Amino acid sequence: MYDPLEPLTARAEAVVDLAAIRHNVATLRARAGTAQLMTVVKADGYGHGMVPVARAAREAGADWIGAAVLEEALALRAAGDTGPIFCWLTTPGEPLEQAIAAGIDLSASAPWEISEIAAGVADRPARVHLKIDTGMSRGGAVPEEWPTLVRAAQAEEKAGRIEIVGIWSHLASSDEPKSPVNEAQLATFQSALDVAASLGVEPPLRHLANSGGTLALPETHFDLVRPGIATYGLSPFGDALPSSELGLVPAMTLRAKLAMVKRVPAGAGVSYGLTWTAPTPSTLGLIPLGYGDGLPRHASSSAPVQVGGVRRTVVGRICMDQCVVNLEDDAAAAGDTAVLFGSGVNGEPTADDWAEAAQTINYEIVTRLGARVPRRYVDTGEATG
Ligand SMILES: Cc1ncc(COP(=O)(O)O)c(C=O)c1O
Repeated sequence: MYDPLEPLTARAEAVVDLAAIRHNVATLRARAGTAQLMTVVKADGYGHGMVPVARAAREAGADWIGAAVLEEALALRAAGDTGPIFCWLTTPGEPLEQAIAAGIDLSASAPWEISEIAAGVADRPARVHLKIDTGMSRGGAVPEEWPTLVRAAQAEEKAGRIEIVGIWSHLASSDEPKSPVNEAQLATFQSALDVAASLGVEPPLRHLANSGGTLALPETHFDLVRPGIATYGLSPFGDALPSSELGLVPAMTLRAKLAMVKRVPAGAGVSYGLTWTAPTPSTLGLIPLGYGDGLPRHASSSAPVQVGGVRRTVVGRICMDQCVVNLEDDAAAAGDTAVLFGSGVNGEPTADDWAEAAQTINYEIVTRLGARVPRRYVDTGEATG
């Protein structure tokens, strides 16, 4: 487990523990049972760094890597990943021929996508997963248009330009495993599989489950599961089932050096708008991170920070580059380490705590961490949840 109090040399850093990533992937691998495992690394590995996460995931047994957009999938290949990669979000006119030549599996939700994919084929058929909209109304063919999509794909398969390898969809409410939405989506998925089978299409990869489905809805596993957030040690279920109870280890620790520490009198206002006023003489610490680094401004005057082993609160508005923590009467000095969030094992706040302070989800806290914050990779060996 990463020790967030090890000496800090940088102004600020996000430390990513690759042992935690491997541990989480192995945990998900076990939960997936006989299904294959796709580790989702879109949006720069949910802010953790796409390529290092993908490498650690492969080491820990991920069969597939999942990317949302083409640039991500191609960057994975460029970084030397030669295993199965699935990419599911493209727009008209994108260079699909590059993806096909790179052996990247693509998704199709409409006949025009099948045509674009077929047009990009050179010397080997494109591998395609057909997407059914089971109720979320994002991508996917609606059930009324599903047979048309399947027939269009079948025609290109007969012509040797594509290979239909999967049928898939996405769950809208797996963070609430008891929601009837899950059952309804599952039923729609099953009927899409039946329709495809009646047309003679029975591909080997049927997939539906994200982290919530992987961890709580085994009936959604089919042949392949696609967890994202749980890979990073964060729970998709919020407070209802925290990561520690799922055996997951949060992989990212966000730390910074206090840029300044000062004593202010009672009545001193803090940060833009002076929205917080010191009720008593107080020691304040200046944290060199702000919304320009991805801290949510909504967490102003509520986010937790650990300094000197004590949990304190950000006071006043979070600015672009900095924010202020109320250290009350603690002894502290410029250069001391402030831990904004980490695994929680050493008493530090977690991404969930920040999510609560900003009234958002843990996904957003880690994924929006900006490019200005250097990522540093550590490997603590065997992480245990
Ligand atoms: C198509 C698809 N599959 C899987 C995932 C992973 O979801 P989660 O991070 O909730 O596990 C996502 C992310 O939202 C997604 O868009």
